[in-house]
Amino acid sequence: MKILVLNGPNLNLLGVREPGVYGSVTLPAIEKQLLNKASEWGIELEFFQSNHEGALLDKIHEAYGTKDGILINPGALTHYSYALRDAISSVNLPTVEVHLSNIHKREEFRHHSVIAPVAIGQIAGFGAYGYEMGLAALQRHLKEKGE
Ligand code: DQA
Repeated sequence: MKILVLNGPNLNLLGVREPGVYGSVTLPAIEKQLLNKASEWGIELEFFQSNHEGALLDKIHEAYGTKDGILINPGALTHYSYALRDAISSVNLPTVEVHLSNIHKREEFRHHSVIAPVAIGQIAGFGAYGYEMGLAALQRHLKEKGE
C-alpha cells in the first residue's frame, strides 16, 4: 500500500507558526512519527510539502497509477482551491483530509472546505495525531475496498 502525504502552504513553518493554534511539533517530526506508524502497518509513504498550488497539483497527478491513496492537509487551500479539488477528483484516489486545528470552531472562512466533497472524510482538531488517525482510516478504507 502506497500513500502520498501532502502538506500545503505554510505547513513547513509548523513549530514556529502560531503554536497556540497548531502546536509546537514540526513537520519533519510529524513525518517521522507517521513513518514509524506506517512501517509498523506495512504502508509505504511519500511526503511532499509545498507553498505552491501548482506543485501540489503536479504531485497529485503523479500519484495517478503509482499511489493507492492520498493523505492531505491542504492548509488554506482547503477553503478556496477548486484546482486542488479537481486534481483530487481527476485522479480519483481515495483521499483523507486532515487539519491540525478544529477549523469548524475558528474563523468563519475556515468552516467551509472545498476539498471535503471529494474526500472520504475529514479529521480536524486533534493536532499532529490527526495524521495518524487519517492514515489508519485510509488503510481501513483501502482494505475494505480490496485495493
Ligand atoms: C489548517 C487549517 C487551515 O485553515 C489553515 O489555513 C492552515 C492549517 C490546519 O491544519 O489546521 O494552514 O489546515
